[in-house]
Amino acid sequence: MKISPVSVAIVSMILPILAQVQQTAGCTCEIDNSGLTFPQSRLLNVQSGASECTKKITSQEMSDVDILLDKLHYRLQQLELDVLKLEEEDDSDGSAQQADLYKAVSLRIIEIELAEIQDLIIKLNTTNTNHQGLSKDFTTKLQNMKTEMEALEKFDRTGVVEKEKVNKQLQKELVQCQADLQVTPAPSIEHVPGNCPHGHLLNVTGPNTYTATEYGTSYPFGAWGRDPKPAAGKENWYWLVVLTSSSVYSNFIRWYSSHSTLVVGSNAGDVIIASGNPTTNTVQGPNVVMYGDALYYGCYNSPNLCRFNMTARTITTVALPNVGYNNKFPFCHLGACYTYTDIDVATDESGVWVVYATAENFGNVVLSKVESGITPLLGRTWNTSLHKRTVTNTFVACGVLYATRFLDKDTEEIFYSLDTVTGQERYDLNLRFRKMSTNIHSLNYNPNDRQLYMYSDAYVLSYQLVFG
Ligand SMILES: *[C@@H]1O[C@H](CO)[C@@H](O)[C@H](O)[C@H]1NC(C)=O
Ligand SMILES: *[C@@H]1O[C@H](CO)[C@@H](O)[C@H](O)[C@H]1NC(C)=O
Ligand SMILES: *[C@@H]1O[C@H](CO)[C@@H](O)[C@H](O)[C@H]1NC(C)=O
Ligand SMILES: *[C@@H]1O[C@H](CO)[C@@H](O)[C@H](O)[C@H]1NC(C)=O
Repeated sequence: MKISPVSVAIVSMILPILAQVQQTAGCTCEIDNSGLTFPQSRLLNVQSGASECTKKITSQEMSDVDILLDKLHYRLQQLELDVLKLEEEDDSDGSAQQADLYKAVSLRIIEIELAEIQDLIIKLNTTNTNHQGLSKDFTTKLQNMKTEMEALEKFDRTGVVEKEKVNKQLQKELVQCQADLQVTPAPSIEHVPGNCPHGHLLNVTGPNTYTATEYGTSYPFGAWGRDPKPAAGKENWYWLVVLTSSSVYSNFIRWYSSHSTLVVGSNAGDVIIASGNPTTNTVQGPNVVMYGDALYYGCYNSPNLCRFNMTARTITTVALPNVGYNNKFPFCHLGACYTYTDIDVATDESGVWVVYATAENFGNVVLSKVESGITPLLGRTWNTSLHKRTVTNTFVACGVLYATRFLDKDTEEIFYSLDTVTGQERYDLNLRFRKMSTNIHSLNYNPNDRQLYMYSDAYVLSYQLVFG
């Protein structure tokens, strides 16, 4: 039998069953077979309930929930391996006594794993109850699912652990369920842009948050956000980079341990890139991002992308071939340009991207994937037909490059997209959102909470992306 990583619903189903088996199996591993047939359709109902619940979790809850789901996913993988091992032990010939002993030990390990999984489910539940918004609905659904699972439990003694009676159909459903849960989408007839299952980008709502930084209005250029792949212990942290020298250069990253500490201006300290500002390999231009506890940015006075490792405090660089830099191909609107915005770094579900322009591509945008190995390397590259100077900023979500343009001081529009999966460009997106001040100096997508983080005339804002 093979248990694949699956949704919460499936876990709560397995949980009581295996626990029961373990109790019985303390020494003998007898399984009480009630002989009833497992009702697939009811499991399916619960499964679709679970996936609906997941969809209904609001964005704010998303990052906490994502972390918990990640852990759950990992635990389930572990469980799968251990159940497989149990089967092998079962198959191995050895004395019956020895086999029983192995079985008992394996079941004990599985029991511990299940306890950990249950713990995660409780945390998941708490996370949702702590957030007021949709949590009542969610909790009710969860409760209903649990009740239904309890009802299903008595049917399932035949199916889950006893290897001779592998429930092929259940296995199929689990695989399907896993596919639904994975980042890679299940094949579908209608093409969803990029490589994520969220669907099309439908809307940008907000701002959800809008605040000045502790610097007041001193520094109009900068960037902020959350690391999509944070270091342990920094899951809820926010980073801020302000261009403190000539609105072009910076040499440090400021941390905040939460959004509220950022709002009140109580920082958790700075990490210094170099003592000079500017000097070799310090930050030039506002469009920087944090990923995997490293800051990616355009290097001072050079055609390179820099990566500053926050732990090792070391800098590695990767050359951007033919890139226009030092204000050659900045972002612009109407007559005005945003100085030194030649290089824009972005994050999405798949990691880091860099957006720039080359003379070879006539000053049009070029997009490259950044492979963030021991030394960062440029991966696949796309030449677009989008003139960089007609764009105010860009971001990448689900492998789709989006570009914004200036409509007026209150309104910005996402008008362009490049789907890196199909190579298709579109200029008709017409997704408008409200600004709180005129200029966008940086814009980046965080795949964990699906928010856009914007730095605008010394203010920091976040917006929700709505997919569907
Ligand atoms: C989730 O939390 C609610 C409220 O605290 C509780 O009543 C419910 O039993 C919990 N559900 C699970 C599955 O732990
Ligand atoms: C986008 O969101 C705004 C603000 O919530 C709303 O007024 C508007 O109707 C939405 N547009 C679409 C196309 O859903
Ligand atoms: C940063 O440095 C640490 C310590 O040397 C290393 O373990 C980690 O992999 C580095 N991170 C990146 C993104 O290179
Ligand atoms: C982009 O265009 C340049 C100039 O024509 C060309 O040399 C390069 O190979 C193109 N890159 C890709 C990925 O198409």
